Amino acid sequence: MIRRDRIRDLLSSGPPPADGRPVVVCGWARSRRDSKAGVSFIDLSDGSCLAGIQVVVPAAMPAYAEVTRLIHTGTAVSVTGRLVPSPGRNQSVEIQADAITVVGACDPERYPIQKQATSLEFLRSIPHLRARTRTFQAIHRVRSVLAFAVHRFFQERHFTCVHTPIITAGDCEGAGKQFHVTTLDLEHPPRASGEGIDWSQDFFAQPVHLTVSGQLEGETFACGMGDIYTFGPTFRAENSNTPRHLAEFWMIEPEMAFCDLEGDRQLAVDFVRCTVRDALAACAPELEFLEKQQAPGLCAQLQQLVTVDFAELTYDQAIAILAKAGRRFEYPVSWGCDLQAEHERYLVEEHCRSPLVVSHYPKDIKAFYMRLDDDGRTVAAMDVLVPRMGELIGGSQREDRLDVLEQRMAAAGLDPGRYQAYLDLRRFGSVPHAGFGLGFERLVCLVTGTQNIRDVIPYPRTPGHCP
Ligand code: 4AD
Ligand code: MG
Repeated sequence: MIRRDRIRDLLSSGPPPADGRPVVVCGWARSRRDSKAGVSFIDLSDGSCLAGIQVVVPAAMPAYAEVTRLIHTGTAVSVTGRLVPSPGRNQSVEIQADAITVVGACDPERYPIQKQATSLEFLRSIPHLRARTRTFQAIHRVRSVLAFAVHRFFQERHFTCVHTPIITAGDCEGAGKQFHVTTLDLEHPPRASGEGIDWSQDFFAQPVHLTVSGQLEGETFACGMGDIYTFGPTFRAENSNTPRHLAEFWMIEPEMAFCDLEGDRQLAVDFVRCTVRDALAACAPELEFLEKQQAPGLCAQLQQLVTVDFAELTYDQAIAILAKAGRRFEYPVSWGCDLQAEHERYLVEEHCRSPLVVSHYPKDIKAFYMRLDDDGRTVAAMDVLVPRMGELIGGSQREDRLDVLEQRMAAAGLDPGRYQAYLDLRRFGSVPHAGFGLGFERLVCLVTGTQNIRDVIPYPRTPGHCP
């Protein structure tokens, strides 16, 4: 077994005794600097925290010349030495090396990551090496803390975590955006009497897809267990090449029985506040680093997000504000249009200057399951919009009246035969219920101040791109 100390523990262990305690650290060199006095300094990272530890290699160390010659940015090494107070300004402790083993050499001519900051765009072309960089380590530690914060938030409120299926025959958000899952021979698919594909011969004996949302299955659990949430991967085959869209992303979807749109809105606002607060508490070094690296003012913005009231507008009010904005939008605004990112950002960043919840959208631009308002032209929907990202959350109160739901499905051209289980919820003990979906990567972008969603997921899948 390899015994090693974590750099995180060493840096937070307080001042060491002057003679130094013996330590072993293993990691990757970020840089090596040789002083004229015949001493080398290695900045060593093991990924346990953002900071590296300084390793001081005295010329008197056995095989000094041989070992230091092999150590460059990216070389994996194991260092045995003593933890001592550091005379340097940048760290309180350092390691006085007694022996160094090169665990894995790294050819400096071919290694694509250098000590100087490399652009996020370039790093996207080498996703398998991105985790060696400080920026990625910072983003992904925040992502990990946020994932834990999501579960903590719901578990503390006694919501049940439900793992909804990834392969599904249902279509939650409306036709045309799903990935087929099939084992048929695509070059010679079986044909039913020479016409369309005979899906009865496919693995599931019917067409199935990767899920776009766990909501419909989530509703079935909420209408039995009360408060539930899902947190899983979702897939959209939309041809959206934007900094806010992925073809594979993770979504968090709470669903609550005996809940209306106002209860849903309050949960959504609390949820954003609590998860951001957890990230601020657990990731101070990462967020300060990201603020310097890529997002001036980030920490103050996050503090504001935690304390400020979220503005509230109905869709009608939002449209009136946009129409009076005196601004030429790329997509012109009129009642009935969907809000585009430029509209959302105007409302949040320039008009409200705070996060914003827009509610009661026209029924024709929203999904069939949203509860029809009494005016007959809008639905009980709400989107939470935030600076830079625009839409972070989409949610609604669900249509719980069987007859209205059937009419809405007919109007949307859905085959009721495929939704009998969903309709059963309205036949047997129907209750008002509501929920929302939050795109996890958009939350990570917001909290880490990252501009492009491709940089907050380890392996981004986007149109034409799945290496
Ligand atoms: O607004 P959406 O499509 O809502 C639903 O899927 C509902 N079934 C949710 C529910 O009520 N349970 O998606 C919810 C959120 C969006 O607000 C956005 O943050 C994110 O999911 N999202 C995406 N994130 C990354 N890439 C994409 N292509 C996304 N599409 C939606
Ligand atoms: Mg939406």
